[in-house]
Amino acid sequence: MTDFITGDSNTLNNNIQKENMADKKISRRKFMQGTAASMLMGPAICQASKVKSFRVKKFEPFSFVVMADPQLFMNGETFSTNKLIQAVSHLNQLLPPFLMICGDLTHAAYDDPNVVHETNVFFDKFSQMNSLIKRYDVAGNHDTGAIPTYESIAWYEQRFAPIWYSFVYRNNLFIIMESNLLREPGNVPALADKQMLWFKDELKKSTRAKFCNVMLFMHHGLCLNNVNEADDGWNIGIVKRHEILALCHQYNVKAVFNGHRHLTRYVNDNGLEIVTSNASSYTFNTDGTDPVGLRLVDVYEDHIMHTFYDYSEMPTSLAFPVYT
Ligand SMILES: [Fe+2]
Ligand SMILES: [Fe+2]
Repeated sequence: MTDFITGDSNTLNNNIQKENMADKKISRRKFMQGTAASMLMGPAICQASKVKSFRVKKFEPFSFVVMADPQLFMNGETFSTNKLIQAVSHLNQLLPPFLMICGDLTHAAYDDPNVVHETNVFFDKFSQMNSLIKRYDVAGNHDTGAIPTYESIAWYEQRFAPIWYSFVYRNNLFIIMESNLLREPGNVPALADKQMLWFKDELKKSTRAKFCNVMLFMHHGLCLNNVNEADDGWNIGIVKRHEILALCHQYNVKAVFNGHRHLTRYVNDNGLEIVTSNASSYTFNTDGTDPVGLRLVDVYEDHIMHTFYDYSEMPTSLAFPVYT
């Protein structure tokens, strides 16, 4: 059950609020009166829902799944769709409450003539995923473009999700950011600034809410090997990187999950985990030592644990299933 989702990124649909109440039989009226009263909600939602108080439910451990770069049609339609079918099959067996997709949903970006077909296939394949599994999309460079524009962002938000948003699940805060904006804000500098203000505000308010864990999701990694590595096409530039790292440390963010590199990488920066997951479809690794697959994350009251699994070694059940 997703307690609530809120975001104010988009130029089209300023705020969205969704809930998936499949694993908790409460009425929408009670839902709005209870959990939706988060201090993280934007003014528009708070006003609309007329919620006055925030009630934190008791924590229970749970597991969820991270997918990176399904990038449908990369390395061909047959190859990539077969990988996605394989991933969906595992997800249907694991039955997590939600799936985070860390960007590059299809290979064609918004202005590619193939994008309509590729996104149609993407939605068709995901229609085979059990509807109990909520999908949370993150924008990649193959989605909104390496240098986003208002047009590319509007295109993405109409089809997939806000470019930044957050949601709460079992008293854990999940923050989603648009990392192309962190790298290349040139076409939309005001929007890039707005995202950073929102991020800071979200973290600031999270301290009052006393979440068990706060996790951040984006497409590009802050870094791949160490926090002081040189800027390149795979990471966030060092100035913005250290600005975000400082905020993560200040507000006790547990982990940053990302894709983009099509390889698995891991950095632990004084307790902050920066977790780069290999793609679910096509890897840039050539010797078979860094395979494609999915990352399973187990969430405890004060920490998280996670493992990336090759499809051939994928568990058949979660450590903490929500649906039994
Ligand atoms: Fe990618
Ligand atoms: Fe990418």
